[in-house]
Amino acid sequence: MTTKKIPLLLFAMSLLAFTACNKEKNDPGYVYFPDMYYSHAYDANTPNPVFADSITNQMPVEGTVPRGYAPYPYKAKSFLDQQAAGQELENPIVVDNQVLAEGKRQYDIYCMICHGEFGKGDGHIYTSGLFVAKPTSLVEEYVQSKPDGEIYHVITVGSLSGLMGPHGPQIKAENRWKIIHYVRNLASL
Ligand code: HEC
Repeated sequence: MTTKKIPLLLFAMSLLAFTACNKEKNDPGYVYFPDMYYSHAYDANTPNPVFADSITNQMPVEGTVPRGYAPYPYKAKSFLDQQAAGQELENPIVVDNQVLAEGKRQYDIYCMICHGEFGKGDGHIYTSGLFVAKPTSLVEEYVQSKPDGEIYHVITVGSLSGLMGPHGPQIKAENRWKIIHYVRNLASL
């Protein structure tokens, strides 16, 4: 072989190096620790030999709180706790037009169906006869004289009678406070 051809040969060999190992992209070739390379992931609803109860979808550890949520210490359907929430909780959101706009957006999603577009307790679900209990008017003295914390309590854990259910799990805490600003604003219209 002439020395002139050596660079050409090296070039050809390097091409070989690039292609030799892995033609098939989904095939990793040799795997040195197969038990580490192929992880045994179980689907949430398939049986699982690792846990004693054979269930993959384990309950979260007791006391687990979803990100963005804080434990709510006041008890549902307790008059005293509702009063305490009214005295101890303060609306942390300073009201401005943006807050009112978001409060309206949230109200229209979560409250309007029962309490009505302007909070008078005449939402579609009631006027159509689908819901037997009359939702309280939010714009009259009875609700407007309650401190923010009490309304927050009702939104979070529901009303004392249970006719209005809890909305804490659906509505983020800051949005509950924004709804309250909006409800105050409705009353002043
Ligand atoms: C499924 C219908 C329904 C939805 C949705 C609903 N409410 Fe109610 N709400 C009611 C009913 C019915 C009552 C009266 C319950 C009672 O007297 O126990 C009530 C009562 C209330 C009261 C008065 C509680 C009291 O102490 O007497 C407030 C304040 C209130 N709702 C706010 C809201 C807000 C704010 C929302 C939206 C986050 C909302 N509600 C969503 C049906 C609903």
